[in-house]
Amino acid sequence: SAPSLIDRHGRMISYLRISVTDRCDLRCRYCMAEHMTFLPRDRVLSLEEIAQLAERFIARGVRKIRLTGGEPLVRRDIAELAAWLGSHLDGGGLDELTMTTNANRLAPHAEALRAAGIRRINVSLDSRDPETFRFITRHGDIDQVLTGIRAARDAGIAVKINMVALKGLNDAEIAPMLRWCMDEGYDFTLIETMPLGAIDEDRVDRFLPLTQVFEDLQGQFDLTRSGHASGGPARYWSVDGSDIRLGLISPLTANFCDGCNRVRLTTEGKLYMCLGHDDQVDLKTALREGGAAAVDAAIDHALSNKPARHDFRIERDAAPAVARHMSVTGG
Ligand code: GTP
Ligand code: 5AD
Ligand code: SF4
Repeated sequence: SAPSLIDRHGRMISYLRISVTDRCDLRCRYCMAEHMTFLPRDRVLSLEEIAQLAERFIARGVRKIRLTGGEPLVRRDIAELAAWLGSHLDGGGLDELTMTTNANRLAPHAEALRAAGIRRINVSLDSRDPETFRFITRHGDIDQVLTGIRAARDAGIAVKINMVALKGLNDAEIAPMLRWCMDEGYDFTLIETMPLGAIDEDRVDRFLPLTQVFEDLQGQFDLTRSGHASGGPARYWSVDGSDIRLGLISPLTANFCDGCNRVRLTTEGKLYMCLGHDDQVDLKTALREGGAAAVDAAIDHALSNKPARHDFRIERDAAPAVARHMSVTGG
């Protein structure tokens, strides 16, 4: 069988994140500029091409796939793709198929995603206050999003809430959000804003170190460190009085790259080896011109160049670490 994926730092790659579209129906201020140019549709991988590439990764030991974006649910054929990837679950090589979504269009898709084999979903939710939510996302309607989250839960999909901590925007909502997640039974992860792509403001002004947030939370909740999830960026705590976990993703204040287990496929078929670096290989061209063997060779080449770690810094007037937005690389 094809050799498994081990990078030059000895890290085993078992997790593929696929950005199925760079487009989004929201415009979160820390993520995108108000006016964005997106890829022309003819440069985007077809459903079949995504499936063929994913198959090479599964054949080489990838056990977990996350569909992301942009917003994955704006891609018309997403349910079909999920169903196709889901056919590799239950003995077909894949242990888990998941999605990261803003939940804006989740309600009409929830049943189909569950039927495809998705059992857990991560929802980006930075505020539950209608006005703050609208301000951060520029377009979002909180009621529609909350309806989407409930639809997922009702369909039997476990929900994790992701909240980017933003100074002066949602800091006062962090503790209430944790409390709400405890009541609703959702895991909850806080994230530090990362310097990816040009936006309309200086990230320094919104950067909130989670070290500080965590101290505040410790004063209000009884938190116990729980095991490190394998290779994920988050550190987890259990919260007394509930079954949920609190996670912290702190790329700026606590580096987690030693345990990195992931690579990322973009909408355009580029394989990025790290969220914070430009190293990539073009799997679309490899697939179109050389088929599976060329794809495998390109993946091997990419692995031999996987950077040891990102070097994100948030500094006034500094250019972002990489020019592409999170929505291109797929988080
Ligand atoms: P799991 O896949 O279960 O580990 O969930 P996750 O929390 O990693 O996935 P999700 O898509 O919810 O991402 C949450 C945040 O973590 C996003 O802002 C991601 O960009 C960030 N993140 C995920 N992987 C990495 C990584 O390798 N490096 C950095 N710096 N951030 C990451
Ligand atoms: N820094 C941190 N998180 C970001 N996200 C998007 N852009 C950024 C950024 N620059 C988050 C979204 C979502 C996840 C996939 O990435 O809020 O939760
Ligand atoms: Fe869209 Fe997610 Fe970016 Fe917000 S953070 S603009 S929901 S991709």
